[in-house]
Amino acid sequence: MRIRVFDTPDAAAAYAVALVEQTAAVYAEPVLGLATGGTMIPFYKALVQAVRQGLDLSRAWAINLDEYVGLGAEHPQSCAGFMREHLYRHVPWDGARAHIPDGCAPDLAAECRRYDRLLATHPVHLQFLGIGLNGHIGFNEPGDELVAETHLVELSETTIRSNARFFRDPGEVPRRAITMGVGGILRAERVVLLAFGEQKAEVVARALTGPITTRLPASLLQLHRDVTVLLDTAAAQKIRGKTVENG
Ligand code: GLP
Repeated sequence: MRIRVFDTPDAAAAYAVALVEQTAAVYAEPVLGLATGGTMIPFYKALVQAVRQGLDLSRAWAINLDEYVGLGAEHPQSCAGFMREHLYRHVPWDGARAHIPDGCAPDLAAECRRYDRLLATHPVHLQFLGIGLNGHIGFNEPGDELVAETHLVELSETTIRSNARFFRDPGEVPRRAITMGVGGILRAERVVLLAFGEQKAEVVARALTGPITTRLPASLLQLHRDVTVLLDTAAAQKIRGKTVENG
């Protein structure tokens, strides 16, 4: 695991884009695992800029981690809506190569299986992740058990409360989601975890240096052989006993 600490989220985002550029230089059809959430906004901004300056992602695949149950792609607070707002509105992307679970599928279990077939045929080269305040990755919430495959989850109260900031009415936050499982995440060739801000410092330190436990899903990343963690100084401030690199 490599931990890099930057002065600002924008500097970390620029580094994340450099990792996309590296991946795009290696694979004819790079498969990017993408995430939503406030943390990812500077990254997509920098990615859009890189594409405008010549980065060719026309053959790249984009496979998102998760989606709320009951929010259609047209809903602005859906994960699909987030991706449209921050990436696809700015960068034309072949719809056949841009994927996100369908939270309105009539058969949600079948939708989860469809997503796993997609992941099996398009193994992710570079998986981007944020981290929830409770240590979730994707929407894999802390618990006694974690699920390897794509599945339906009941969102925790912490997550519902934290994501309420994106909704006009906090009562609108869906209580269920479809998420890639921890197996799907850990099968990615390379994982990039981003976290910014003081409010993430505690959970980041526990995830990177504490025990590996289903009670903190991001701690499982300690088992992956190629993880890069990109932090700003505020999010890195509680890490002890691990080498961190600057910028
Ligand atoms: C959300 C998403 C995660 C995201 C996390 C952090 O609920 N499902 O993929 O990483 O919570 O969100 P934020 O970046 O807004 O703090």
